Amino acid sequence: MKWYLGIKSIYLKLIFTFLGMLFFSCMIAFTIIFATRWNTMKKNINSELLIKAENFQSFHKSYQADIYDIQRLLKDNYILIDIFSSYEDIQNNSDYKNAISKDQYTEILSGKTVKFEKLKKRRFMPAVGISAGGKVVIIHPSFNLIENFKNTAYVLLICLCLDSMLIALAARMLVKPIKKLTFATKEVSAGNFNIRVETRSSDEIGQLAENFNIMATELKNMEYLRKNFISNVSHEFKTPITAISGFVKLIRDRRLSQEDFNEYINIIILEAERLSNLSSNLLRLATVENQAIVVKSSLFFLDEQIRRVIVLLENKWSFKGINLDLQMEQLEYSGDEELLQQVWINLITNAIKFSRDGGTIKILLNKLEDRIKFQIIDNGIGIALEDKPRIFDMFYKGDKSRSNDGSGLGLAISKKIVELHNGKIYFKSEYGSGTNFTVELA
Ligand SMILES: Nc1ncnc2c1ncn2[C@@H]1O[C@H](COP(=O)(O)OP(=O)(O)O)[C@@H](O)[C@H]1O
Ligand SMILES: [Mg+2]
Repeated sequence: MKWYLGIKSIYLKLIFTFLGMLFFSCMIAFTIIFATRWNTMKKNINSELLIKAENFQSFHKSYQADIYDIQRLLKDNYILIDIFSSYEDIQNNSDYKNAISKDQYTEILSGKTVKFEKLKKRRFMPAVGISAGGKVVIIHPSFNLIENFKNTAYVLLICLCLDSMLIALAARMLVKPIKKLTFATKEVSAGNFNIRVETRSSDEIGQLAENFNIMATELKNMEYLRKNFISNVSHEFKTPITAISGFVKLIRDRRLSQEDFNEYINIIILEAERLSNLSSNLLRLATVENQAIVVKSSLFFLDEQIRRVIVLLENKWSFKGINLDLQMEQLEYSGDEELLQQVWINLITNAIKFSRDGGTIKILLNKLEDRIKFQIIDNGIGIALEDKPRIFDMFYKGDKSRSNDGSGLGLAISKKIVELHNGKIYFKSEYGSGTNFTVELA
């Protein structure tokens, strides 16, 4: 077994296995055929020989015919008849050498019919000896019995060769994509995430190749995220800090009107808030990222929590003159209250942020059979087609013109929190006419 496991190529392994199986089954088939047919054939030939021997003797006795005439008369394509005048004659014939003993010879001469196995070149061949006209007549089949089986064996051998060729071909086709995969894996481990394995088959190996491609894409994205994370974080911090230090410098110069002073102070407060938001978001992201399960679970009313968030954000939506349409069932839920609150804050803030003045935001909360469904529907600016695949990415901000007051972390965090609660978050959006975000909690 060790040598088999030691074979480095799956191609060779397949071929060995298939050939082994083929050889084994052929052997069994051949043995069974041989065992069952051999004896009946032997019996049939023997009785045929005995009939000929009887015919020979009765021709000789009844018609007193010359034995050489009878020999010519009785022999045919299948049965041969040889006539010998002495034991030496037989011994001198290469076909019969040592096939018959002196005792058997005298037995035949005394009138008995003797069956023996003529060993022609060590092969079995049945023969019958009789005496007629003082001579020994030996009757035997013209063909070799083994020869008969040999043909079957040849056919089997040819089949074996053809099968081997087919197997080699099939194995090659099987192994080819595996070789490609091995090569691609090496490339990925060397840092080339652009490699793709082409497949046309949809079998297990085809699926493996497809999943490999997905994995390579994901790895590429992760690599991209990792590379960009630091630069994104630095960038997000740098903008408000530059603004704050700039306005502080302006204030320090003191040649400011009260109006400008107030405006600058407001900007500084806003930017400081932004910084604080950013750091708490990053902290939250780090917490959620490193969490595999909900740690701080408690039972609370979801509808109540969402209503509190709406109140919390009141100055934002009332400032834009947004109408709220709330249709929420009273629902108790067990989960991390603080984290889930963040999800509602993020989604509602987005809906307000990306709504036009005087727009409407509809919030639905329902209990379905096995889950809870939260929906927030706005008739705001919608999400552009090219942004759709990326809005859940960290630091990704879609609408560039309005992106100043966000860091693009909201949806990334929300997604993590929802998934932590075994839920899912998804959206439908039409650019220009509105967005519908749905959260389903198990
Ligand atoms: N309700 C919405 N309507 C339109 N676009 C949205 C909505 N919610 C999210 N988006 C898009 O998804 C992006 C990512 O959202 P988010 O992660 O909350 O970051 P941020 O709010 O800081 O921009 C937004 O920049 C915006 O382009
Ligand atoms: Mg947001």
